Amino acid sequence: MSYIKVYHFNNPKTITNTLHFLSKKEIHLKDILPKGYVDIHSHLLPGIDDGVKTVYQSAYIIEQFQKLGLTKIITTPHIMNEVWPNTSDVIQNKHMEMKRVLSSLDIEIQLETSAEYMLDDLFYNRIQKEDILPLHTNYILVEMSTFNPPINLNELLFEIKLKGFTPILAHPERYSYYQNDLTKFQELKESGFLFQLNLLSMSGYYGEKVKNTAIKLLSEHLFDFAGSDVHNYQQYEALEKGFLPKHADKVNQLMQNNSVFH
Ligand SMILES: [Fe+2]
Repeated sequence: MSYIKVYHFNNPKTITNTLHFLSKKEIHLKDILPKGYVDIHSHLLPGIDDGVKTVYQSAYIIEQFQKLGLTKIITTPHIMNEVWPNTSDVIQNKHMEMKRVLSSLDIEIQLETSAEYMLDDLFYNRIQKEDILPLHTNYILVEMSTFNPPINLNELLFEIKLKGFTPILAHPERYSYYQNDLTKFQELKESGFLFQLNLLSMSGYYGEKVKNTAIKLLSEHLFDFAGSDVHNYQQYEALEKGFLPKHADKVNQLMQNNSVFH
């Protein structure tokens, strides 16, 4: 795939960084992508969070996923108090708009929508009112702040379970306050969270610390599912490569697990 296409979406400095980290020995995503992989984490509804900005950017990335062999994407815009307080209606309307665009372009991949809920006060209100866009059936994709876990984590988890949902914690490998203590991750799993690996973490895209934590969680079999968390075309390009052969089988297994979302 030509890097010239990247230039339309990103500045030259970013491209240089991308090329630099892709220069190691790696295998392509397409070579470990199982049939039936459903991507369950991305930001592909334009203009409502820090993901894609236009319908064209969105359609282009979705078309690339289709060419890769995916038949279904469940995209997950942020819902975050004061930053992206997207209502369920805003997300659903944007989803319908995007589906119309894909149809007009003959892009046949199935696009569904859910959300990536920050575990904050806004989420607490929404879960109490059962105003939730579930992931597939009864799952909810949730994330935590990068600075500290929510002080009312147990209360939030209680509400989630009470309403009959199963929480999937997005990219646990990225939370710096947990990175040095494997028992914290084990406690989260035992309390009822499922874990979703960001595929980009394996290449070092978010730094060595995140990559090493991802490898540790992978070797301890703590992940349940995988997701791209793609926000833009640069990340899509980074996703295509970046897997070391020694991790391929375990990552492939996680992606196979995603077939439950069909
Ligand atoms: Fe995300």
